[in-house]
Formats: sequence, structure tokens, C-alpha cells
Amino acid sequence: MASISGKLQPGTEKIKMKNPSTILVTGGVGFIGSNFIRYVLEKTAFKGRIVNLDKLTYAGNPENLADVQKKYKGRYVLVKGDICDFKLVGRLFKKYSPGIVTHFAAESHVDRSIFGPKDFIETNIHGTFSLLETARQAWAGRKDVRFHHVSTDEVYGSLGRTGKFKETTPYDPRSPYSASKASSDHLVMAYHHTYGLPVTMSNCSNNYGPYHFPEKLIPLVILNALEGKPLPVYGDGMQVRDWLYVEDHCAAIWRVINKGRVGQTYNVGGNSEMANINVVKNICAALEKYRPSCCNVDLKGKKYLDLVTYVKDRPGHDRRYAIDFSKIRRELGWKPSVTFKQGLERTVRWYLDNSAWVRDVKTGAYRGWLKKNYTR
Ligand code: NAD
Ligand code: TYD
Repeated sequence: MASISGKLQPGTEKIKMKNPSTILVTGGVGFIGSNFIRYVLEKTAFKGRIVNLDKLTYAGNPENLADVQKKYKGRYVLVKGDICDFKLVGRLFKKYSPGIVTHFAAESHVDRSIFGPKDFIETNIHGTFSLLETARQAWAGRKDVRFHHVSTDEVYGSLGRTGKFKETTPYDPRSPYSASKASSDHLVMAYHHTYGLPVTMSNCSNNYGPYHFPEKLIPLVILNALEGKPLPVYGDGMQVRDWLYVEDHCAAIWRVINKGRVGQTYNVGGNSEMANINVVKNICAALEKYRPSCCNVDLKGKKYLDLVTYVKDRPGHDRRYAIDFSKIRRELGWKPSVTFKQGLERTVRWYLDNSAWVRDVKTGAYRGWLKKNYTR
């Protein structure tokens, strides 16, 4: 898919909207953003237009929205560009007058932030500032607009064996990634308190589902297993994450944007706490069900579980995350709709059914980066 830096996708800029309401989505080509755009266009009553500003980094694969691009010509516009580029963001506000900003764009992988934090500081902090400042100037005190910031539970730090993160839990970020997200969260709230910018925020747990870039645990394990490669488990594998199916997350964001109280943050969780080693075992079980190892020539007689390999731990690895999502359930009536078992089976089947997407993503920058940076 051709796209010109800072320019619209050819053929989409001249179409007049029947309903002029526009959402500016940032980072909408990535994993959660692409699921969100598809969700809003396919599953909600929204009749307006979505403008997607994305830098198309290694994690931004426009193929994620190839179907949307075809089906929603005129209601979906992709702009290739950097959220840190004030001039470009200003031009987009002028041209499209978005009434809602939904801000996903970020460097999102903790391991990468350990190897090279610079891009995380630039995109996650400076980029968020550029969007906030432009929105403040363009919206000039309007109250009928909304800036929604998508953030993470990692800003709260690491839990012991018990307890859950609440919206009131003090911030205690421990990786360059979570520190940069914490900083952006503070900027968002500062713009609300200082300038009255109508913001909402959500802090969610680990997402999983279709279009997940295979550097993160779940897609990495699925794809390595299918190829008979080692399944790397960091440290003792007993670190706990709360897994949230991506479409449930998209529904939560939509609800917060439409019904959430301005100036508030909402924690979003999947009610699915699990130790990493058990996540890996569940993936192996789902693969045995849908693509048994005995029929997979790459396995050379092994079972998927035989591929589990304990490797050196991540520095500063947070031990446990768990989310208390009672506020969004109580105030907005949202709760996760799938169990981890259901979501994981859907995810495994999606990766099995989308081998062309997998092939394309694996021949991209991802491989080059892994070769250069991974010594494990
Ligand atoms: P992702 O890495 O899959 O996608 C990020 C997208 O942002 C990519 O399309 C990339 O091209 C784009 N991008 C990066 N830098 C940019 C820049 N400077 N300008 C414009 N676009 C840029 O990330 P994701 O997993 O979809 O996460 C989306 C958001 O959700 C992030 O803000 C992340 O911090 C947050 N989040 C993610 C998770 C998770 O489990 N994936 C959990 C909690 C919060
Ligand atoms: P990840 O998917 O990178 O998300 P995050 O770091 O944002 O939680 O990792 C999820 C968990 O899985 C985390 O505890 C690190 C661990 N992990 C592994 O054990 N092996 C791997 O190869 C990866 C990528 C992660």
C-alpha cells in the first residue's frame, strides 16, 4: 500500500462526508488501533470518518487494515506521519476538524525500551505533548470534544502476591516504556486540570488477539511453536499478567469515549490473571487441538510443549500485574465478554487462518531487528 509522508492516501481526500464528525486516531495501524478502527466502523453506530495518523514504524503494518481501506473508502483515511510533527498535526486538525482524538500511537514493547529508550521518550512523551498542545489550540475551550488517551497498567509498577491496581494506585513505573507512558498520562491530566481540555484515559492490562505483532509473548509463542522453534520463557516463568482480549478492550475504549466522565481514568482488565508459563502451556494445548504436533512436520516428532525453553530474565521484570476494573463496570456497565480460554482459542485460530499476514509480517523489519538485537 503506497502512502506519502504527511499526505493523504491517494483517492480519499476529496470525498465529502454526509456526517462530518471525524475521529482522529493515532497509531491506528498497530495492533490495538487497527482492531479499534475495525470495531468502530463495523460494530458501532458511528457514521462519521476516521483519520488515522500513523508513522508506520516496524509495528505499523498497513495490511492490518487492508479490508477496511477497501470497504470504507471515504470514511477511512490513512495519513503516514509522526505525531511529534506539530505542523502536520496542526494541518490535520485544520483540514478535518476532529471532534474526538483517540491516541494509541506509541512505542509499546518493554524489551525494546530496555535496548533503546530514545524512541520511547520521543514518541510517547513528546508525541503526546504535540497532540495535546495542538488539540488545546484548535479546540480553544470547546467542551463538545474529547481527547482519549490509551495507556497501560504498567504505570502502576509491580504487585506482590495479592492486591490489584485501582485508578488511585500511586504511579511507580519501572521500565523506560512504563516511565514514558506514565509521563504521557501525567501530561494528559495536566492539560485537563490546567487548560480544561476534555480528556479521558484508560489504563489496561496486556492485550492479545488478531494482528498482534509477533514480538509479544502470545503471538511469538504461537508462531515459534508452529515452526518448531524454542518457546522462550523469561526467568522462572511465574510472572503474572492479566490478559485482555483486544476486542473487549476496544469496546471499553468506545464506552469511555462516549459515556466516561471527563477528567477521569478507567482501568480495563480481562479478569484473566495467569503466570507466563501457564499462558505458554495453554497456547500449546490450543495448538494441539487445532494443528496437532503429530501432523506438523516442523516439529520432527516433538510435542509443542517440548519446545519450552527457559531463558535469561528481562532486567527489572515486573512480577505481577492485576487490574481492578470495578469502576468501569460500575459507572459504564463494561466487563470482559470472553474468558481467556475462548479468547486464546480465537487468537490461535486467527493465526492459523491468516498465514499470508504472518508471512508478510515475518519478512519485514521484525526479523532484521531480532537478528541485530537479540543475543538470547
Ligand atoms: P503497537 O506497537 O502494535 O502499535 C503502535 C502504532 O503506533 C504503530 O502502528 C506505529 O506505527 C505507531 N507509531 C509509533 N510511533 C509513532 C509516531 N511517532 N507517530 C505516529 N505513529 C506512531 O502498539 P499497541 O499494542 O497497538 O498499543 C497501542 C497503545 O496501547 C499504546 O499506547 C500502548 O502503550 C497501549 N497499551 C498496549 C497494551 C498491549 O498489551 N499491547 C497494553 C496496555 C496499553
Ligand atoms: P510482553 O508480551 O512483552 O508484554 P509486557 O512486557 O508488556 O507485559 O510480555 C508478557 C510477559 O511475558 C512478560 O512477563 C514477559 C514475558 N515474556 C517471556 O517470558 N518470553 C518472551 O519471549 C516474551 C516476549 C515475553
